Amino acid sequence: MTIPLIIDTDPGVDDAFALALAARSPEVDLLGVTTVFGNVSIDHTTRNARRLLALLGSDSPVARGADRALGDVSRPDARHVHGDDGLSGKAFTLPEDDRIDARDAVEFLRDTIDSSPTPVTIAAIGPLTNIARLLDTHAGRVGRLVVMGGGLTGGNVTPHAEFNIWSDAEAAHRVFAERPVLVPIDLTRRCAVDGAWLESLTGRIGTTLAGLTTRYREFYLEANGIDGILVHDAVAVAEAINPGILTTRPHLLAVDTANGDTHGAIVPGTHPVDVAEDTDVEALRAFLHERLSGS
Ligand code: RIB
Ligand code: CA
Repeated sequence: MTIPLIIDTDPGVDDAFALALAARSPEVDLLGVTTVFGNVSIDHTTRNARRLLALLGSDSPVARGADRALGDVSRPDARHVHGDDGLSGKAFTLPEDDRIDARDAVEFLRDTIDSSPTPVTIAAIGPLTNIARLLDTHAGRVGRLVVMGGGLTGGNVTPHAEFNIWSDAEAAHRVFAERPVLVPIDLTRRCAVDGAWLESLTGRIGTTLAGLTTRYREFYLEANGIDGILVHDAVAVAEAINPGILTTRPHLLAVDTANGDTHGAIVPGTHPVDVAEDTDVEALRAFLHERLSGS
């Protein structure tokens, strides 16, 4: 039985790896991709999602989502990490495709959940604005929700907050009420892949993905002095595809939505959240490499 999957995403270099993983995994039926602002603008993330699926030979629909956080709050993007176009300046090299679903992301999510004969998994790998809006009408009706985000021992966009959560903290706090699996940077940082791993990706897809990392790889070299990248979103999608590949433990959590220095931090609260705390890192790297290599 394949898993019906929707990915909500802000591509984004690591999002590209995650989309490729889903499109090349027989365990899932990729019902669609919804886009959200985040790493770059909604225009760029939507175009990137469509063109990445064209590269992957996927006709899954793409539906455009939120261009800013709930409450019309705007926060800085991450173009300095992913490149101005979100894909290290290489988006133009991807196949042209401008087919975007007539529905917006939330309508698409609602319709797809309502019409699916089996519970739908959502992998949310960007800011959670679309998912929070979905839950206004569909709380309790998402089969499984896997969220890439948060940092229990510190952040990446501030010392306290991780980018996806920080970008729309109010949305994240609402989504925590849906008992997600949370895949935080505490774990994704342990799953970094190095330059040799990237350069050993083979085939049209593997080499194209590696080619999309140039700016992203420079950022990590400049920031950490290491030649490698964090494939945060692919770690989360691996859990959506292969439930249990990550080891989780329940926590009672909330998101700091106040506008102070700790805005977007994950804090003790009342929402049960299954936090991914461990994995066999080498096995996960091998799984990703195998799925992302080849024609
Ligand atoms: O903090 C990492 C997350 O923020 C990833 O989803 C990355 O793509 C960015 O969206
Ligand atoms: Ca992302």
